[in-house]
Amino acid sequence: MPARLVTARSAMEQPRPASQSPSPWWRSAVVYQVYLRSFADGNGDGIGDLTGLRARLPYLTWLGVDALWINPHYPSGGADGGYDVIDYRAVDPDYGDVADLEALVADARRLGLRVLLDVVPNHTSDQHPWFRAALADPDSPEAMRYHFAPPSEEPPNNWQSLFGGPAWSRTPDGRWYLHLFAPEQPDLNWRDPAVAADFEKTLRFWLDRGVSGFRVDVAYGLFKDAGLRDNPGAYSPTLFGHGPEQAMTWNQPEVHDVWRRWRSICDEYPDTMLVGEVCLADLEQVALYSRPDEMHQSFSFRLLKSPWSAEAFADGVRTALDAFGRVQAPVSWVLGNHDKDRLVTRFGGGAVGAARARAAALLLLALPGSAYVYAGDELGLPQAEVPDEAKRDPIFFRSAGARAGRDGCRVPMPWNASAGVGFSPRGAAEPWLPIPAGWPRSAVSRQTRDGGSMLHLYRRALALRAEHPALGSGAATVSRRGDVLTVRCTGEGRTVRCVVNMGSGTVLVRSRGTVLLASAEHVPSSGGSVALPPDSAVWLAED
Ligand code: GLC
Ligand code: CA
Repeated sequence: MPARLVTARSAMEQPRPASQSPSPWWRSAVVYQVYLRSFADGNGDGIGDLTGLRARLPYLTWLGVDALWINPHYPSGGADGGYDVIDYRAVDPDYGDVADLEALVADARRLGLRVLLDVVPNHTSDQHPWFRAALADPDSPEAMRYHFAPPSEEPPNNWQSLFGGPAWSRTPDGRWYLHLFAPEQPDLNWRDPAVAADFEKTLRFWLDRGVSGFRVDVAYGLFKDAGLRDNPGAYSPTLFGHGPEQAMTWNQPEVHDVWRRWRSICDEYPDTMLVGEVCLADLEQVALYSRPDEMHQSFSFRLLKSPWSAEAFADGVRTALDAFGRVQAPVSWVLGNHDKDRLVTRFGGGAVGAARARAAALLLLALPGSAYVYAGDELGLPQAEVPDEAKRDPIFFRSAGARAGRDGCRVPMPWNASAGVGFSPRGAAEPWLPIPAGWPRSAVSRQTRDGGSMLHLYRRALALRAEHPALGSGAATVSRRGDVLTVRCTGEGRTVRCVVNMGSGTVLVRSRGTVLLASAEHVPSSGGSVALPPDSAVWLAED
């Protein structure tokens, strides 16, 4: 267990460790997102686990990432991929136990990797002891920790669940309770001090075990309009997130005090960080969550939600650099995660989708700030077809099949080219989600032998990023000419241009320097220019 820097002194008395050093690790870290259930199965029950992940840590150091973020590992009701937590200070037996997590953190540390956990403060599982007690007795202290309303014909207001249908369900005794996600995920009432106190205990529990921080689920939620007033507009999945139409459920001003408090806790532990999931349309609002005394980062989802267009990407990059620059926070760039279709598929699928995903990877890894890479994106995995009968995602069920759900980006990782793709040991149970027929083709074992693979592109890009001062930190300026996007990155007096051709014809790019890396196989250069094929990107170092 690492020594705690400060115990009970106020932040005023104590200089802030890490966060005020010239360049803390998290400002430019590449964080690899591990979907634990699908990463590697150590004990053969068909479910990814901590032992499996531990055994694969050398792969992550070979790849060259700085840290990993593990999706929820807590005992869970299983209604929403682990985001319905029963016990915040334990490990789900599917994944191992607390000793396994400690061993993982220790191994990771030895290999130079940091571990971030996922914390879910907006809601618990309906099987959490608090919610059970609240159901049993409306006058219990636990009932105050959720949002209940007395029995009535109609729900208390017009709020909708993000997974479809009303955000209110009935208890067996006729009361209403609020759930902005699935009914198995009752929302906590953060106006009750017992809630805040318990989460502080949870943070310390894991920080004391050596983790380097947390990804904070639904960090723009937690508080709701105190009068539970109707939302002005209907729920519609807007392009970039929630806006004024959902003003009563999200982004209440009180929430920022929680992040100030959590920041002060993290500041007691050297080199730890918080990154918040803040799905608001206005990036200026998102950036406020990573002001210097709040979370260290809040995700910028612009590129995750942008179509393949130079205009959209240029706008996404520029808006994020401006918004986060204003609060002196690094941008946390995201191209893929466990909630979105895989980028190869989003960008058109097949060879075109793969070429675009390669180009996008070079952009992601050049930009100043920290980059989040979702497990399997380094292999160029497409969105998998999951048969309806195998699906698990509540979005699919609550929309009566109208929305496909997120299972297709959550299927097991292909490690080798055998039928079971090396996800589980030989002779194991069926994997929890079926392995798609094409998976062996993308296996790690194959791609490590193929110098032109997506995996090698990521590895080379990560190695260059680690050694070149213009990549991943420093400053960037964005320009666009037609379908060609250029990000000029500078650091320590050196410059790299990342040029992305998002159009349909080859373009000539003038270059006075060297080609550091190209996403396409052939990028001929002659007479001071390089010929950049469609759907490709290049890193040009200005000597
Ligand atoms: C976040 C998670 C998502 C989950 C939801 C509810 O958006 O990323 O997977 O379903 O929160 O916890
Ligand atoms: Ca297992």
